[in-house]
Amino acid sequence: MKLDERLALCASFVREYSKIADIGTDHAYLPVYLIKSGRADHAVAADVRVGPLENAKKNISENGLSDRIKTVLSDGLEKISSDEADDIVIAGMGGELIVKIIEAAPWLKNSSKHLILQPMTRAEELREYLCREGFRIITEKACISCKKSYSVILCEYDGAERECSDVYRYIGELDNDKSMEAERYKYVINEKLKKKIKGYNEGSEEYKRLNDLIDYLDSGKE
Ligand SMILES: C[S@@+](CC[C@H](N)C(=O)[O-])C[C@H]1O[C@@H](n2cnc3c(N)ncnc32)[C@H](O)[C@@H]1O
Repeated sequence: MKLDERLALCASFVREYSKIADIGTDHAYLPVYLIKSGRADHAVAADVRVGPLENAKKNISENGLSDRIKTVLSDGLEKISSDEADDIVIAGMGGELIVKIIEAAPWLKNSSKHLILQPMTRAEELREYLCREGFRIITEKACISCKKSYSVILCEYDGAERECSDVYRYIGELDNDKSMEAERYKYVINEKLKKKIKGYNEGSEEYKRLNDLIDYLDSGKE
């Protein structure tokens, strides 16, 4: 079984032999892959909607893993307890929804837990939240899947509040990453910022901040 690049990157951040929870699992591709490959020992596949959870159950059953992967109808981590998961994957959702899910599960503020986060939109809000709330980004990598650019964040709680510069909000740990995937991610962000800045008055503070950010990203071009 092969995962697309986006889920494969999420999978690569999972610690070996860990207990994982996949929040918003849909077809449960990730937990099925992780259990089948032997990378994870136990898995919980959760989704807030019945339809996607049915997709998950079907895929899990077809792979003969119904006794290894628990499925739960759950809003975020509401129905999952701390002792059920070490590595928590929240992928394929907006950054603001990922923030809400983390906020609603205070037990994630524990240094033994790893969060693997893959925002589809508003990644800057997620990075800002992580910095403010004491989550350290251990690493972040970019990938390209179906011609689209994504970033996956691996983080853990250490309780230290961090400054979050505009550059860090938008490109996080990819700032010094010169890989083709990271360069592509930064290019896409820069293009979005160039569109966004057109909606601001040239004299405004927000315009200046965005302009500085665009200048910074432009200066990183080859
Ligand atoms: C686009 S799919 C992503 C599937 C998979 N995680 C991936 O990255 O390919 C988003 C899934 O998240 C689920 N979802 C949305 N909000 C959720 C929440 N609050 N708690 C759990 N699942 C949620 C949706 O029902 C949907 O199945």
